[in-house]
Amino acid sequence: MTIRTFLAAGAAAMAFTSGAYAADCKTDVEDAFDLSGAQIEEIYACIGDKMLEGYTKGDNEVAAVYRTWTPTATRPAVAGPHGNRLLNTFANDIAAEQYLKFEEEGVVMPAGSVLAKESIKINVKKSKAVVGPLFIMTKGEAGAAPDADDWIYSAVQPNGKPMKIKQSFCHNCHEAFEGQDALGYPLEEVRVSN
Ligand code: HEC
Repeated sequence: MTIRTFLAAGAAAMAFTSGAYAADCKTDVEDAFDLSGAQIEEIYACIGDKMLEGYTKGDNEVAAVYRTWTPTATRPAVAGPHGNRLLNTFANDIAAEQYLKFEEEGVVMPAGSVLAKESIKINVKKSKAVVGPLFIMTKGEAGAAPDADDWIYSAVQPNGKPMKIKQSFCHNCHEAFEGQDALGYPLEEVRVSN
């Protein structure tokens, strides 16, 4: 077990214990951007196991395994895009080495790379955190998706069902990350580097 998988296992175990007591993940912020790192960690500890339970209710292959992958951030964070949700990305073995360099020039991710990003929405009206979709990017072989730098986008709903999405909707924004092979990367303050 690497130190990273050890940490991830610890976080998952913690999420399980606190989740068992806090059924509703309450938060009283007016805006997701107002959350402190500590508050986000509390929310994640509360919602983390419920989230995985939902994503894995269907038969999505990524949902079933992504928590065993390499975490790319120390905790979820709010970047703005993706509906001001709290975002937390995991990289599979093929993607991890390159992704965790967070390079900004000349990045070409290997075919077979998969990034899975959990999301949490702050429902301000109900003063609680709720599970958002699991967003997924899969790098195909050269020519697999010529209009999208060979990325295939998909998403799983909080109830485990596939989410209807449009490739161009996702890629029209992601293609702006030039030199980074369409990757947005987590906020700098939470990145886990290798
Ligand atoms: C308006 C811009 C925008 C749109 C539209 C968008 N994304 Fe993203 N996406 C981002 C940004 C910015 C990040 C990096 C921020 C973060 O993860 O904290 C990101 C990160 C990701 C990641 C993690 C890998 C990475 O880029 O670092 C995945 C997976 C992802 N998005 C999937 C999707 C899918 C699937 C869709 C379509 C349903 C989509 N995105 C639509 C802006 C966008």
